[in-house]
Amino acid sequence: MEVLNGVNMEIYEGEFLVLVGPSGCGKSVFLDIVAGLTEATSGIVYHDGVPVTEVNTNVAYVFQQYALFPWRSAVANIELGLEVRGLPKEERRNLARELLAKFGLSGFEDRFPYQLSGGMQQRVAIARALATNPDVLLMDEPFAALDAQTREILQGELLNIWEGTKTTVVFVTHSIEEAVFLADRVVIMTARPGIVKNTMVIDLARPRDEGIRSSSAFSANRHRVWEALKEEVSKAQKDWAPASVYAR
Ligand SMILES: Nc1ncnc2c1ncn2[C@@H]1O[C@H](COP(=O)(O)OP(=O)(O)OP(=O)(O)O)[C@@H](O)[C@H]1O
Ligand SMILES: [Mg+2]
Repeated sequence: MEVLNGVNMEIYEGEFLVLVGPSGCGKSVFLDIVAGLTEATSGIVYHDGVPVTEVNTNVAYVFQQYALFPWRSAVANIELGLEVRGLPKEERRNLARELLAKFGLSGFEDRFPYQLSGGMQQRVAIARALATNPDVLLMDEPFAALDAQTREILQGELLNIWEGTKTTVVFVTHSIEEAVFLADRVVIMTARPGIVKNTMVIDLARPRDEGIRSSSAFSANRHRVWEALKEEVSKAQKDWAPASVYAR
């Protein structure tokens, strides 16, 4: 199956880039290639000018499914990457606790994933990804499984933390609202084989707060993204006709 063909994009240092595109167009495969977890049959990903040929340890990945280690407590999940890098126990524990506090999870350090709500688990997964101070944070629909209120709260939290770190973020979502709220630029991919159809700059000032969602500028951006995307969504649906997973 030809999944991606001719994907060409530049991702700038410190930007918040959001990828949208119909289900099955290759967004997750693209992130896997950037992370060096999957090898492209042709083409090259450069990270800071260096071709990615093996697992890219300068990126951190928050996967589409919850991917915490069930046998490790919240704090021990976050410590994992630091452990692998050989940080002393006390140092990594302190750093992990600090990150948990930033995500409003003080007091939950010793809970296991099954003792945390979905929103809390995703907070831990993001904290774990940020713990190693990556150049690039890849996020594959990290909030898709959450209820609408938790999702909006986590979007705000993510932006606050991002403003402080300015880590480059590549974020995949099916929610246009989420894309517009978070992004500096939105990249719209076509139905499979996925290529870049369009790149849109989201011209909303930062820092962004909840109020921005009801502004006319926000609606205008949302409309622009949806106009570019809807043709691709219906093309993909003609292929295999699932119910639309798109929220306007
Ligand atoms: N490891 C793999 N081996 C073979 N085919 C794969 C593999 N991973 C994904 N695919 C196929 O590649 C296509 C793109 O998958 P991908 O998961 O990247 O889509 P997506 O854009 O992330 O979709 P969604 O929005 O539903 O998550 C799918 O048709 C899938 O079946
Ligand atoms: Mg996917």
